[in-house]
Amino acid sequence: MSSLYPVLKRLLFKLDPETTHDLSMLLLKTVHRAGMTRLFGGAWRAPYRAMGIDFENRVGLAAGFDKNGDFIDSLGSLGFGFIEVGTVTPRPQPGNDKPRLFRLPRQRAVINRMGFNNKGVDHLVSQLQKARFKGVVGVNIGKNLATSIENAHEDYLHCLRRVYASADYVTVNVSSPNTPGLRSLQRKEHLAFFLDLIGEERGRLAQRHGKFVPVLVKVSPDESESQLADFARVFNDSGMDGLIAVNTTLCRKGVEDSVHAAEAGGLSGAPLKKRAEKVLRILKSYINKDATVIASGGILSTDDALARVRAGADLVQVYTGLIYAGPGLVKDISRRLETG
Ligand code: FNR
Repeated sequence: MSSLYPVLKRLLFKLDPETTHDLSMLLLKTVHRAGMTRLFGGAWRAPYRAMGIDFENRVGLAAGFDKNGDFIDSLGSLGFGFIEVGTVTPRPQPGNDKPRLFRLPRQRAVINRMGFNNKGVDHLVSQLQKARFKGVVGVNIGKNLATSIENAHEDYLHCLRRVYASADYVTVNVSSPNTPGLRSLQRKEHLAFFLDLIGEERGRLAQRHGKFVPVLVKVSPDESESQLADFARVFNDSGMDGLIAVNTTLCRKGVEDSVHAAEAGGLSGAPLKKRAEKVLRILKSYINKDATVIASGGILSTDDALARVRAGADLVQVYTGLIYAGPGLVKDISRRLETG
């Protein structure tokens, strides 16, 4: 039934992108309740172990798609090995004014400046506790817009403490381009202090809960090679478990002729692929061998996913690919990564 999505897409693409997203999620929830999500794909079992966690397969949903954990079970039924919810912040916040999400169909890309719109960490935790999805659920954490960069660590520590008992892994998001100053946390001056605090808190939480939760750091594609090398050195000393490479880019290469090219925000999708793979290779050359790497950015086909695994990724995540290729992509990639 993979022919269903192109028809649906033609209808959905007539609406503005944020309405499309909200409507698609409601539709998916309804289809899931009716027990019919297999119409859109289904699961492929190809077990993989990373960070001490068993994954059903190596394909995950990238952060930002289900910011509040409201759709974990229905998204899970599309066959993901793991779902990353968030970015969540301590307190609820509305995000930037609309419109803040733009489709670039010819380039198979999206520009977003959502700005961490979310219902806050307490809501997310209650959704995590209700979810029945058997796969892995990671939680991506960030800071509220109103919190200064100097106090940012307090927001991350608050979220870490709140989600610890219910998360399979936690991602520290220091790479969204839509929260002013956030990316400065990636610089070595801030990063060592910041990751040390996260590591110390994780140690205390592991003791208290009798459970070790891996922590990953999500990286921006817009860092220079020397900044990435510095980042990797601090990461190696930090005791963190893995990296997600990469978040959206501020670069507009490949989309210059789109009417939306000048919109502020992060670009994702096909134009990000080359840079995402390059950053992955650079980071792989600097980081400890035992660190887990999740590839994100411009994975829109099974070939893209396979290339990323061949470049050293353990796991892959999709977001924009889901919009352009449809949910069947999840099973297609899982199968391809198993067979090669
Ligand atoms: C994102 N992304 C994102 N990342 C993150 O760490 N926290 C977030 O809240 C969001 N929010 C978000 C919203 C929208 C609308 C998009 C398109 C993207 C980035 C996402 O997780 C992913 O890293 C990038 O989109 C690159 O992957 P794709 O889309 O090229 O597969």
